[in-house]
Amino acid sequence: MALLYTAAPARGAAWAAMFAEAMPELDVRLAPDIGDPADIRYLAAWTLPPGLIETLPNLDVLFSIGAGVDQLDLSLVPRQVTVVRLVEPNLAAAMAEYVAMTVLALHRDLYAYAEQQRAGVWQPLPQVPAGERRVGIAGLGQMGSAALDALKPFGFALSGWSRSPRTLPGVTCFHGDDGLRDFAAQTDILVNLLPLTPATRGILGRALFERMPPGAAIVSAGRGGHLDAAALVEALDAGRLSRAILDVTPVEPLPAGDPLWHHPRVVVTPHVAAATDNAGSGKAVLANIRRHRAGAAMQGVVARDRGY
Ligand code: GLV
Repeated sequence: MALLYTAAPARGAAWAAMFAEAMPELDVRLAPDIGDPADIRYLAAWTLPPGLIETLPNLDVLFSIGAGVDQLDLSLVPRQVTVVRLVEPNLAAAMAEYVAMTVLALHRDLYAYAEQQRAGVWQPLPQVPAGERRVGIAGLGQMGSAALDALKPFGFALSGWSRSPRTLPGVTCFHGDDGLRDFAAQTDILVNLLPLTPATRGILGRALFERMPPGAAIVSAGRGGHLDAAALVEALDAGRLSRAILDVTPVEPLPAGDPLWHHPRVVVTPHVAAATDNAGSGKAVLANIRRHRAGAAMQGVVARDRGY
């Protein structure tokens, strides 16, 4: 019985050491050293190396190395293979930090003050109490919930949106297409943590921006495919939106010369909001392999028709 690991080599080495101790009966193979393909029951990947999965006749589970699975071409994955995304507390904690950092920076005008500093301007801006700042999170999975928990102590007016109905204490929850319009209309700072699916591609676009209160801001730490960048630039230039913080961009790395690099109201970080932790991801995958071997439900199983 073997696990084939095909992503970043440093993490592979860390996993191999960890698994050798915790589950010596599992043979961890680091691509390209596949050995006998018939032994491979588990595959861990960020993206699928071309032509690989077809050669693994006994594959049971494909583990994504990240929280998302949109980067894996699931059309290549045989139906009988279970696809599992990474559900891991360190990943959620890192995302909660990123969301708290960006929401507070927007709320307290940090970027506006940085601009004023460069212009040599000493000018206090109106201070809005947190209770009057409406912060909405799109995507209410493990990361969305952790981000909302991190924001609660500040006293923001919190809301959330998800595809299907959710109830979260202290959070006004919206769902579905109609709910998205109402959610946007009452959100001053919108944080996108959605999975990328055909239903959410381009969701950060003109229709949404037009619903948002004038001067609203967005933070996107979901996927670049959520964003219509031309619509964003148009909304920023028209003053409809005040600012955007993007951890993910439609093309990554963001190409040289892309207008997002130099837009004065855009802050770009290079897809770092929640990096996969070597030890944490190894622990989570080990725990899922244990569950799988015991015939129990794994954490983070992807519904193939839903795409997350
Ligand atoms: C990173 O973006 C991830 O999916 O974990």
